[in-house]
Amino acid sequence: MKVDNSADLRRRIETLKREKRAVILAHYYTLPEVQEVADFLGDSLALSVKAQSVEADTILFAGVHFMAETAKVLCPDKRVLIPCPEAGCSLAESCDAEAFAAFRAQYPDHTVVSYVNTTVGVKALTDICCTSSNALEVVRSIPADRPVIFAPDRNLGSYIRKLTGRDNMVLWDGACHVHEEFSLEKILELKRENPGAKVVVHPECKAHVVAAADFVGSTAAILDFCGSSGAETFIVVTEPGILAEMRKRYPGKRFIPAPPIDSTCGCNDCRFMKMVTLERIAACLEQEGPEIVLDEEIRRRAERSIRNMIAVR
Ligand code: 13P
Ligand code: SF4
Repeated sequence: MKVDNSADLRRRIETLKREKRAVILAHYYTLPEVQEVADFLGDSLALSVKAQSVEADTILFAGVHFMAETAKVLCPDKRVLIPCPEAGCSLAESCDAEAFAAFRAQYPDHTVVSYVNTTVGVKALTDICCTSSNALEVVRSIPADRPVIFAPDRNLGSYIRKLTGRDNMVLWDGACHVHEEFSLEKILELKRENPGAKVVVHPECKAHVVAAADFVGSTAAILDFCGSSGAETFIVVTEPGILAEMRKRYPGKRFIPAPPIDSTCGCNDCRFMKMVTLERIAACLEQEGPEIVLDEEIRRRAERSIRNMIAVR
């Protein structure tokens, strides 16, 4: 029989946070019980901005590796702990820094825009980062006649290219395994079964899925839309971890997770985000590690591209 020791773990984590003067930042895609022990919950942009203003000596990042790295880039004097350093991201992994440097060298007059879902090495080769919350504003901040490299997400890149009408954007060919798995047919079937439901979609999804959306946005933008929309039912086309926060914020509304192409595979769960458990968080606080450590020269170059993004916001 499986013993539920989550109440004990939660108490232990609260005590450790006080003892170690630590705060926990968590992404909406983490497990619901992980979201509950977070001091701050947010999307990639909000978490980057928040990391800079936390007063604690230690940040524990409940999320994937690139997110903790981003916090360390912005807060080099704080200790940034990562409970699961092996929690990568299929998008970040689709863009190796060495290969990206060679790609960039082919387009020397292009401004490089990279989604934050990249390693610190790629950020160091970037002029300005973006997240799914601000990609449009970031690209619009670049003069229209200046060509752009957009990396690593081809879906977000082509969505922004369509919105801006820029034909001078070259895309890196990367993608997120989670967001590419949604089935348009099943979304349309759900819409037929739930008349009046709004389809809300993350821009990492494929273009034909994005085209079926009533609203396209980052996790934070989707959350806000569900609050301000008069609709009562939403078909949610992003990682289902976000449903915990949706149901908490809007208990009177109904949220239906969109199914993947193969309903038996559970492949719309981000397996990396789900590696972060209460056990791993408690152990990480107790041992004060693993910790993010960065090469200072690379960190400084990456910081410039993240700060350029924050200036646009
Ligand atoms: P957000 O920018 O919405 O936080 O997205 C992060 C992410 O990893 C999406 O897959
Ligand atoms: Fe990376 Fe996709 Fe997971 Fe987001 S959902 S962290 S892009 S693998």
